[in-house]
Amino acid sequence: MRGRTFGVMADATTARPVRSHPVFAVFYRRLCDVTDRAGFAKVRAALLAEATGNVLEIGAGTGGNLPHYVNADRLSVVEPDPAMLKVLRTRLDRAPVPVELMPAPAERIPYADGQFDTVVCTLVLCSVADLDKAVAEAKRVLKPGGKVLFIEHVGAPSAKARRTQQRIEPVWKRLFGGCLLTRDPVAAFERAGFTEVAAEDVVLGRNPAPAKPIIRGSARA
Ligand SMILES: C[S@@+](CC[C@H](N)C(=O)[O-])C[C@H]1O[C@@H](n2cnc3c(N)ncnc32)[C@H](O)[C@@H]1O
Repeated sequence: MRGRTFGVMADATTARPVRSHPVFAVFYRRLCDVTDRAGFAKVRAALLAEATGNVLEIGAGTGGNLPHYVNADRLSVVEPDPAMLKVLRTRLDRAPVPVELMPAPAERIPYADGQFDTVVCTLVLCSVADLDKAVAEAKRVLKPGGKVLFIEHVGAPSAKARRTQQRIEPVWKRLFGGCLLTRDPVAAFERAGFTEVAAEDVVLGRNPAPAKPIIRGSARA
């Protein structure tokens, strides 16, 4: 069954209204088309081939991952930004499995403990308001032994590149929907008590953007 939406509900999980980024949502959808054609679709596909069973994606954005859930049984996605949700709702039929869409943030995932076999986050831990809370929530909703799969850009290892990232970060954050350049999600997975935390660099062609290096990996709850 392709892309059947069987649940779209209002966001009852947030006390504050979630900030909308309409310009970024339109720009990001186009950017994903370009980066996917340049090879990023293959990176997404390789990671998501490992997403099995009952899968949750956090911060699904404009749905770039949806076509790649070929080994999942069913998919739930959470996304808090109304502008991203507007685009996402039009693209749910790209998924090869049924999709449940929940307008909610990663810091308050509206699912009970231990429901999911796999949690996916791609290019989202840079943008969540509270990294540790988001990662703790991912662990909470995973079954014991379940896996988080991730692709994230992280702070540069060299001090010089890191200083550049820190300098441009305030402007970058405003332009790119709250994205921070210097986060360390691997350390956050370890702090949250995930085991078997493994990450490797994603090797792409020339990448002039300061949002690098990009890593892909997994960790076990
Ligand atoms: C750069 S986009 C990445 C979208 C998608 N994951 C992808 O791989 O293309 C970052 C996404 O994180 C979402 N986001 C921001 N804050 C969030 C939060 N607190 N919880 C969940 N998602 C959030 C944004 O709305 C946006 O959709």
